Amino acid sequence: MSGKVFLIGAGPGDPELMTLRALRMLREADVVVCDRLVSEEILAMHAPGARLIPVGKAPKCHTVPQDRINQILLEQARAGHRVARLKGGDPMIFGRGSEEAAFLMGHGIAVEYAPGITAAQGASCSTGVPLTHRGLATSVQYVTGHRQADKVLDLDWKRLADPDTTLVIYMGVANIGQIAMGLMTENLPGSTPVLAVGKATTPDERRLVSRLDRVAADVRAAGLAAPTLFIIGKVVSLYAERPVAELLEHAHG
Ligand SMILES: C[S@@+](CC[C@H](N)C(=O)[O-])C[C@H]1O[C@@H](n2cnc3c(N)ncnc32)[C@H](O)[C@@H]1O
Repeated sequence: MSGKVFLIGAGPGDPELMTLRALRMLREADVVVCDRLVSEEILAMHAPGARLIPVGKAPKCHTVPQDRINQILLEQARAGHRVARLKGGDPMIFGRGSEEAAFLMGHGIAVEYAPGITAAQGASCSTGVPLTHRGLATSVQYVTGHRQADKVLDLDWKRLADPDTTLVIYMGVANIGQIAMGLMTENLPGSTPVLAVGKATTPDERRLVSRLDRVAADVRAAGLAAPTLFIIGKVVSLYAERPVAELLEHAHG
């Protein structure tokens, strides 16, 4: 008889940010297939005797190809196991969770989900910078800053360059210069504040406050590396601990 796969969001790092459902599923699993962004503390919560299969990074830093990950999940479920597929953040936000679920369900395997706190939500609450704020941002967009090797980062800069929207750029460290340039070309001011947060919600969290026209140089100088995300927009002004009333006046003026 086939087992099943629990598609679990482990959150951004801090084990306290896992949901009760995520924890229950992790403890019920006898096989755990995990991403590199899942912290050791979270992994340590698996059931005694469960088998761990890391697929985030193989030797020499090559990631395990997605097709292979799909096959591992399928093989383990077909062998009758309850498989925890642990992913950083939420499995359905830049996490390929839906691709894995579609593949498994296409092969008759049952999938159950546990949503996770996204890296954006974790960084927002750990820094105190909201993603929306009355008078500063009426919407938020999660954007990938990653491009396939040899391909140009093909984003709709015009749509993204909205001064009333907060942008959260995922996987953007390598391309932050190109991203800032694309936004400024569509008239988002160079003075727009940017907050980069590395390893958010972990003991190694790093923060860098910058602005659009300087962020690439600042990130290079600080040596920020993945996993890092960027919060771009007026909400970042709240990080400077200026009185909210003054900021709102500034935003409207
Ligand atoms: C493949 S995506 C995974 C996103 C995840 N599923 C989520 O819901 O947040 C990986 C990217 O997420 C961001 N990220 C993940 N964990 C992070 C953390 N603890 N701090 C900052 N950024 C993080 C980084 O931009 C990283 O390159």
